[in-house]
Amino acid sequence: MKMWSGRFRQPLDPQFERWQRSFDFDRRLLGYELAASGAHARALKNIGILSADELISILEGLQKIGEMAASAEGFVEDDEAEDVHHFVEKQLAALIGEVGYKLHSGRSRNEQIATDLRLYVRAAIDELRKELSDVCEAFAERAEKAGNAAMPAFTHLQHAEPVLVGHWLLAYVEMFLRDADRLVDCRKRLNVCPLGSGAVAGATLPLDRVFMAEELEFSSLTANSIDATSDRDFILEFVNVLSLLGVHLSRWAEEMIIFSSQEFGFVKLPEAYSTGSSAMPQKKNPDLLELVRGKTGRVIGGAAGLTVTLKGLPLAYNKDLQETQEPLFDAADSMLGMLPLVAGWMKAVEFDTARMNEAAQSGFTNAWAAATYLVKRGVPSRLAHEQIGKAVKLCVERNCEIQNLTLNDLCRLHPAFEESFYECLKPAAVLAIHDVVGGTAPERVRQGIAAAKRKIDSLREEVKIHAHA
Ligand code: ARG
Repeated sequence: MKMWSGRFRQPLDPQFERWQRSFDFDRRLLGYELAASGAHARALKNIGILSADELISILEGLQKIGEMAASAEGFVEDDEAEDVHHFVEKQLAALIGEVGYKLHSGRSRNEQIATDLRLYVRAAIDELRKELSDVCEAFAERAEKAGNAAMPAFTHLQHAEPVLVGHWLLAYVEMFLRDADRLVDCRKRLNVCPLGSGAVAGATLPLDRVFMAEELEFSSLTANSIDATSDRDFILEFVNVLSLLGVHLSRWAEEMIIFSSQEFGFVKLPEAYSTGSSAMPQKKNPDLLELVRGKTGRVIGGAAGLTVTLKGLPLAYNKDLQETQEPLFDAADSMLGMLPLVAGWMKAVEFDTARMNEAAQSGFTNAWAAATYLVKRGVPSRLAHEQIGKAVKLCVERNCEIQNLTLNDLCRLHPAFEESFYECLKPAAVLAIHDVVGGTAPERVRQGIAAAKRKIDSLREEVKIHAHA
């Protein structure tokens, strides 16, 4: 039986009928639909619309549907179901007879889909935070393992200053921790229950909304039925959070691709996550990284598409809202698919630390440290900068590094240079002067690793708390 055929004189155009369905993709909401329906059924019993026996048979029917979906192959293949709500109603009536049709009393699919989607996003957030904590851990572990290995840090993709490899990896941990934080924030805002909002004006029966919210572990209620049935902000917000996470992953992927090129040679691509070429026998390609970069484009596209879908809609429910589901699922699937692979890649990758160390010392990465030497001897910073710039110019002419200039050469530039200057140019000394919180001095990096690990631990704790909530 259709959910709405009473007032129609003509059957639907079959092509249109198929085309407007959402069951192909919203069937994945079945578990949430069953949970929300259970809460609604209990609320109906509490106000006397269902008898105790009717409630029991409805709850048993809902449970059976869940079990069959989990075990019976092909059960969720249904050529008639318009959407997941229709599917449940149909199956329930098939299982328990006409009493199944009582379940829809006082409610609308508009509040149901709003509820199911909130439950879906809430669960996706919890899973994503768990995956993100694994990614952070993989990065933090590599940071720790890297010890005192150094590499050049780049600005404008030109050698800038040496940093510890661990310091570089911790930069990514910071980005991912912010992403996890944004997910928590998004979760807080979406965790409100729309049940009882009806089609647009509120339920037509005096349902206990607090009771239903508690049944589904929502922290509170939506405050306005018009907003509740038309709001998809939480989807847009979530997919935007994922876009930003994608931006971080994509920057990482891009950097790794550059660093794995023959020209850089900092990163040796793990074979388990690379592919070859069907034509060129020598190739080992960074496919995982390229797909991370590529799939991020899809997620960003999803966020842009959702924005456009929502921007022209008058209040309240419009069928356009059905179109928010696929980009949502696609974004969540893309991220959930790639995060474990990113963690795996990070565990498997090898860094050529000899090459990185060597690169860290070339291209005048100690020039600012050299200028700092003069500053510490009272030379005004602008002048010191100028003199070291001249020293670099001399080096470029002679094709050498600053430490290869003689004291004579240097004293011609400024009298403050002494033999001790050469000490401050050594790699370890250059690293050591960046001795501020968040800087690359080895002790600071060790503190940074410890702090990151504490943050990762508390992320894991929160994930556990929500999982048991
Ligand atoms: N499949 C629909 C959706 O995803 C469910 C809500 C239908 N509501 C309606 N008034 N037609 O949006």
